[in-house]
Amino acid sequence: AAAEKGGYSTYMEKEINEQPQAVGDTLLGRTDEQGRLTLDELRIDEDKLRQVDRITIVACGTAAYAGMVAKYAIEHWTRIPVEVSLAHEFRYCDPIVSDRTLVVSISQSGETMDTLMAVKHARELGALTISVCNTHGSTIPRESDAVLYTHAGPEIAVASTKAFLAQITACYVLGLYLAQLRGGSYADDAQQVLTELHDIPGKITELLDGMERVREIARFMADTRSVLFLGRNVGYPVAMEGALKLKELAYIHAEGFAAGELKHGPIALIEPGQPVFIVVPGPSTPHGLHGKVVSNIQEIRARGARTLVIAEHGDTAVEPFADEIIRVPSTSPMLAPLLTVVPLQVFALELSSAKGLDVDQPRNLAKSVTVE
Ligand code: G6P
Repeated sequence: AAAEKGGYSTYMEKEINEQPQAVGDTLLGRTDEQGRLTLDELRIDEDKLRQVDRITIVACGTAAYAGMVAKYAIEHWTRIPVEVSLAHEFRYCDPIVSDRTLVVSISQSGETMDTLMAVKHARELGALTISVCNTHGSTIPRESDAVLYTHAGPEIAVASTKAFLAQITACYVLGLYLAQLRGGSYADDAQQVLTELHDIPGKITELLDGMERVREIARFMADTRSVLFLGRNVGYPVAMEGALKLKELAYIHAEGFAAGELKHGPIALIEPGQPVFIVVPGPSTPHGLHGKVVSNIQEIRARGARTLVIAEHGDTAVEPFADEIIRVPSTSPMLAPLLTVVPLQVFALELSSAKGLDVDQPRNLAKSVTVE
């Protein structure tokens, strides 16, 4: 078993370290010599894809957070409205679907019953269905019109890490491809982002090499009873995923919030010593979002929160208000989740081990839930 873990003590640690490859492999072979995306593997008539006027993403758990990241990206790049529906809600909410609706399911295993039922329902209603899936020959791709495989390799640890990054990557590819099909200025933007996407695996490697301080912080926090996570825009699903990882692995109460929502309620939870992770958008993020999140850090710090700040290299604005700063390489704002989530995964893993828990097999959870 030690050999299977490639020298790491847990599968999860191994899988976190395989993330550069998971992202790289998911991009591999999907561009031509001109650097344009080629998704012939979908075998869907391009005109049919051009006619799509609405996208619904269906997924559960971590895959649904990948879907939330995808919503921001696909809407921004294509101007097609995207909705994310938890698969178990989708089927029972009388969903609005036409033959111009694209339903994208996201599933590592391809066997999650809730997601499968959502896909079947979508097809019955006449939607075009694409499965983003990590498992060849599994049920959901078979029941879908087309499949875009993630190439994360087998994921053994119950809590998803490398599959999450691969899912986000595949959704970016899909969004950029739809933008390319639409042509014009959409296509130009897409080309630029695609170039930056190819630099991400190297940046994850760089990030993983600098995780010692995150591990230390996690070990100091083994007795913590509650951790909050704040993020905005694509950082919001990252905050949700950071909280989910901590619940799943360390059995600690954790909640993710949209940073802008803080003043509408959650700020009441802030008391001296409350640890709060803040996922800070890069300084170049449009609409001044960086400054707004820095103000949030200032507000909670003034109320005694212990601020654990995830910020880009060179972002000095966060320094006066941060108890800890975890640095990530800079990238285009939309791609940041592939970097900012990594320290949160490492944090949950390390805290779980510090508590002596079973990292790979957390209590009450299954890798794949094949019942409704
Ligand atoms: C289970 C796992 C989660 C996973 C979810 C969706 O609940 O414990 O880690 O995110 O299923 O799994 P899927 O295979 O559909 O991505």
